[in-house]
Parts: sequence; structure tokens; C-alpha cells
Amino acid sequence: MKTSLFDDTIENIRTAADIIRDGGMIAFPTETVYGLGADALNCEAVGKVYEAKGRPSDNPMIVHIAETSELARLTDDISEDMRVLMDKFWPGPMTMIVRRKDIVPDVTTGGLDTVGVRLPSSDVARSLIKESGCPIAAPSANISGRPSPTTAEHVIHDLYGRIDGIICGEDCDFGIESSVIDMTCDPPMILRPGAITREMFSEALDREVAVDQSLFKRPKNILEPEHVAGAEAPESDDDFHPRSPGMKYKHYAPCAEMIIFDGESESVMKAMDAETEELEKQGKSVFKLSFTDEKLAAHELFAKLREADELGVDVILAEALPEQGLGFSVMNRMLKSAGYNVRRIK
Ligand code: TXA
Ligand code: MG
Repeated sequence: MKTSLFDDTIENIRTAADIIRDGGMIAFPTETVYGLGADALNCEAVGKVYEAKGRPSDNPMIVHIAETSELARLTDDISEDMRVLMDKFWPGPMTMIVRRKDIVPDVTTGGLDTVGVRLPSSDVARSLIKESGCPIAAPSANISGRPSPTTAEHVIHDLYGRIDGIICGEDCDFGIESSVIDMTCDPPMILRPGAITREMFSEALDREVAVDQSLFKRPKNILEPEHVAGAEAPESDDDFHPRSPGMKYKHYAPCAEMIIFDGESESVMKAMDAETEELEKQGKSVFKLSFTDEKLAAHELFAKLREADELGVDVILAEALPEQGLGFSVMNRMLKSAGYNVRRIK
């Protein structure tokens, strides 16, 4: 397939919007990660996205809108809590899971009776949705299982030749995907942590929100994503049933082996140096990852994992972050990248 590369001018965004309206696939920047978009209400177009990504068909898509008023097209149930969160966090990196109307096809929601909706703050993303005149279903624009793309180059690397076009805009601000919060239960429950943290949700709603307990588990069997669209997904660990289908699959994985070092910073540094020396003695190349703060870690993590792959290193050694606030969200990604391979350092 011929993939057109577009600069993010309004003329180009209009051309890309025409492609979406005609049932095509366009990758575009958002403030979180790049998305791979198609008309969310067009079954055939959405089906092609699963195929291009090699995404399991039971993993639902997030539907992106350009104005809060468009939410009523997708759901009949807009609660007071939802209004509060929309006012506070939209446009921005928040996805709300809501009951869906029949207009949203099964293929978009992986057969669920709910749909994830997000109103991005990126101007390019919002213009594309507006110009398309339809809600846009957009998973992250990577091959399933790979780190999410935070630059246009990442998207080109994974999807060039598999989709109709890529809007090459700026690098993504946040660098990790949106927070996903289920608004169909009481209290609302965080299914995927992101830039909007538990503390921020609880403060906005003036009560504690719940957190899917599977986010605290360290499963043994991470499922490989099926690289066949429409294929049945296999079962994962018996005691690991995340409420967000995507969370049970292997994700964000670099090609190299990855080990997370968790402990007091100075000891971790020493342990990582010792391990590096040992590995290099064995002829292995090592890539070390350590971030000064959570915000930078979120911004850089996926890009660094891809950089390590480009360099063809054998092992990535990463320093854990404190699992609070944004650090909890980054660690969620880091743990999955490493296949939950953690070394505790005393
Ligand atoms: O920041 C983001 O959310 C990016 C940008 C492109 O907007 N998109 C993104 O999409 O990360 P994706 O498909 O890579 O991740 C969507 C996550 C998956 O874990 C999926 O299982 C979950 O959201 N999800 C979507 N709809 C859901 C639903 N109805 N119920 C539960 N989980 C849902
Ligand atoms: Mg993804």
C-alpha cells in the first residue's frame, strides 16, 4: 500500500480527513502518543486498523471526538461525574469508558457494550476529527506489542506501507497513553493509569476513585498479541483478568531483554554498574535507562526503548521509579516492557 507522508498544514489535514471519510487509515499526532485513525462508525475501516496493527480483535479502540457535545452521539448516559471530569480534563489525556449507543459498531468496541471516548488537546488531532466529520477510532500507531510511537519516525518505522497516510507533526508531549477510567461503575475505576493520576481524579470528584486491582499484579503469562485480525484471543493467567482487554497482552516490548532494578537509588546505580560489567564480560551490549523525574520518564520511555532496539543492544537495565502519581503510570508501562522482570536491590 502506498503511504503518503503529510506535514501538519491545514491543507494536508483536509486531504487526510478526506481519506478517513472514504474509509482509509491515517496516523496522526496527539498529546499522548501517535494514533492510527479510521472512521469509528465504519466497520470495514476499523477492521483494517486491527489488521494493519496486528491487533487482537477483542481489544477495543478508543473513539476520539473534537467537541464535548459529540459525546451524546455515542452514549445516552452522561452522568454528573462524567460532566465534572470532562470539564476538568478535556481536552486532554483522559479516556472515559461509557455505555455505547447502537451507532457504535461491535468491531470498534471489541464486542463490548461500552465504548472508550477521548477528546484530545492536540490541535492537529482535533482538526483532523473536525475535518473528517466523524468520530475517529484510534489505537496507538504501533505494531501490536511494540512500544507506542511518540514521534512520526516511530510510526513510519512500524506502519509505512501498511496504511494510507501519516501526518508528521511534533513529538508527543506526554509520551504515554491516556488514563482510561471506567464511568459505568461506582465509584469510577481506573483501568489504565496515565497522565491524569488517581489523586487528580479523586480530587476532581471529591471522593476516592477505584483502581483495577489487576494493575497491581505481576502476571506470569503475558499473552503475545495475535498477529492475525479476527483471530480468537487465547486465555491469559487464571488470576489475571484486567477489565481493560488491552492490559492482558504483552505490550511496549523492546527486542532486547529488559531488567528493572528497584531499590534505593545509590544501591541501584551500583548494582546496575556491576551487572553491566558482568554482561559486557560475556560479550553482551547493555543499554542503561534511568530518569531524573517521572515527567521526563513518561516523555522518553518509549523513545528510549526504540533507540535501544535500533542500536541492537542485548540487554536493557532500567532504574525503577517510585510508584506514586505519574510514576505509577510510567511503571505500569515499564513493567510490561520488561515482562515483569524486576530485581529488588537491598
Ligand atoms: O492516549 C491514547 O489513549 C492513545 C491515543 C492515540 O489517543 N490511544 C491508545 O489506544 O492508547 P490503544 O488502543 O493503544 O489503547 C486503548 C486501551 C486498551 O487497553 C483497550 O483495551 C482500552 O483502552 N479500552 C478501549 N475501549 C475499552 C472499553 N470499552 N472497555 C475497557 N477498556 C477499553
Ligand atoms: Mg496501544
